Amino acid sequence: MNPAIEICNLSFGYQKNLLLQEVNLTINKGDFVAFIGPNGSGKSTLLKLILNTLKPKKGEIKLLGVPNFRFTDWTKVRYISQKVREFNDSFPATVKELIASNMYHQMGFLKLVTPKLSKRIDQSLEMVGLSKCRNEQIGNLSGGQQQRVFIARTLVKEPEIILLDEPLVGIDQKTQHEIQQILIKLNQKLGTTIVMISHNLESIKGQSNKIFLFKDMDVFNYTAKEFTVHLSKKGEWVVNNSYV
Ligand SMILES: Nc1ncnc2c1ncn2[C@@H]1O[C@H](COP(=O)(O)OP(=O)(O)OP(=O)(O)O)[C@@H](O)[C@H]1O
Ligand SMILES: [Mg+2]
Repeated sequence: MNPAIEICNLSFGYQKNLLLQEVNLTINKGDFVAFIGPNGSGKSTLLKLILNTLKPKKGEIKLLGVPNFRFTDWTKVRYISQKVREFNDSFPATVKELIASNMYHQMGFLKLVTPKLSKRIDQSLEMVGLSKCRNEQIGNLSGGQQQRVFIARTLVKEPEIILLDEPLVGIDQKTQHEIQQILIKLNQKLGTTIVMISHNLESIKGQSNKIFLFKDMDVFNYTAKEFTVHLSKKGEWVVNNSYV
């Protein structure tokens, strides 16, 4: 086994009350993991704990074998949120410039996009199917295209682990499908470890090999094979015979 993320006896609460209690989980390199569970069950919080922007009350988190508070190689671990919602359309940059801005420390003193970096930008845009939009103003693209640019911006760093917090919210079905396909391709072709929070329970089984259900302050682990989901008559999700 080759762990990407290890969480051991983790407890956390924002105030006195615990939100997550004695959580244990392992995500291996090359896994495609879905975090699911009701609103407020702690999914986004756990991503923040993994990224070391929140500190656990108890327990330990390791990234690529290193305790996360000592982890420094953040180019290998990237986070994508619901950027589209937060994005300001008047941001004055082209697609290429926005992606290049994520590579400043690789550009050297003169901050030039070398042919090698330019090729990496092209490869990232190709991966997300946006080669033609290279020189477009980012503000002129649709929400779904902007989200794909943000994925390309992440890919250009060649990360080993990508954490996504509901990246498909507010995006039309066709684009959702396209982004899912990009993530599957990344996972299968490049072996990138993907951890994605999702409320789209029906599409999870087709893309994830592991599913983590957040419930009652704990996190339950299912393989894709074990995982079943259906809608009850009342319209509630039922995961492996229990309501979520
Ligand atoms: N900064 C904060 N300070 C205090 N409480 C917070 C803070 N952030 C989140 N919470 C609370 O912690 C709980 C878990 O929040 P979290 O965002 O992790 O849930 P979630 O599982 O991601 O939910 P959703 O599916 O709605 O995104 C919620 O009750 C939320 O109100
Ligand atoms: Mg959330």
